[in-house]
Amino acid sequence: MKIDAQPFESLVDDFQQRVDAALERWLPQARVNPIRLHRAMRYAVLAPGKRVRPILVYATASALDIDLERVDGAAAAVEIIHAYSLIHDDLPAMDDDDLRRGRPTCHREFDEATAILAGDALQALAFYIISHDPQMVQDDTARLQMIEKLSLFSGSRGMAGGQAIDLAAVGKTLNIAELETMHIHKTGALIRTCVQLAAHSTSKLSTTQFKALDSYAKCIGLSFQVQDDILDVTGDTATLGKTQGSDSARNKPTFPSIIGLDASREKAQELHRKALQALSIFGEEADILRYISAWFVERTH
Ligand code: IPE
Ligand code: IPE
Ligand code: MG
Ligand code: MG
Ligand code: MG
Repeated sequence: MKIDAQPFESLVDDFQQRVDAALERWLPQARVNPIRLHRAMRYAVLAPGKRVRPILVYATASALDIDLERVDGAAAAVEIIHAYSLIHDDLPAMDDDDLRRGRPTCHREFDEATAILAGDALQALAFYIISHDPQMVQDDTARLQMIEKLSLFSGSRGMAGGQAIDLAAVGKTLNIAELETMHIHKTGALIRTCVQLAAHSTSKLSTTQFKALDSYAKCIGLSFQVQDDILDVTGDTATLGKTQGSDSARNKPTFPSIIGLDASREKAQELHRKALQALSIFGEEADILRYISAWFVERTH
């Protein structure tokens, strides 16, 4: 299907501004002790990222007719987990990158110890928000489900596990199944969480609807990382805001390095088609999710 992007672009802008306001509310002020740690946390989170994960939380909520105030906490929490994962991903012990979101990486701007602690503290802050935010669900069982999802999908069986697979794969040739497993964990899991956190904010969802949304999220979670791998080859540093060619410089197995660029692009398109298929039980209320799937594979940064 062809979606008229225009109204969605402004909706995405609104979601971006909305999460930025929520992040500002939750982050400790830079003048509060320990000042250096709080400055590093704010530096990493408030830097100009795309905010795709919170946008996905809000988009799912709007498709399900959930008040956005109820998911502000979830939106902020996933972005904060993501920011922590980027700080640690860039450390010398991991990808050793100097540029992130067009700025020096956190350990470059501050120092390694501060960057490690900023990541630690951000992870804790995300769980504080989701367990504490009074605007979220009133129902404690639903809140517990959200905490469970966020911990499961960001931990060793989700994002952190994917990062471990990624590091162990340096210099190796993975087969496609192994490559997908790595990507599904390191990036797909948190993207899947975004949709699930919004879905757990309503009690009106049927199992069929939940499963359809989850299938959609799995497809776009993988397509997002396939496109990230493609952009590492085809993008440019200024647009990406991170160093182009970092994967090949570090000998990382990626979709382009294993199956080539054309097949990687086809893979991303195939995942986009599957994501749309998964949404077929929904009407035009889910068009924003369809638009996001297209954005994930067409983006240039
Ligand atoms: C980069 O994520 C890391 C991946 C998981 C691919 P994003 O591309 O969402 O980075 P920001 O948040 O826009 O900086
Ligand atoms: C990052 O993957 C995944 C996580 C941070 C969990 P990459 O290492 O490919 O991300 P970039 O390319 O540095 O943004
Ligand atoms: Mg990495
Ligand atoms: Mg990296
Ligand atoms: Mg990458």
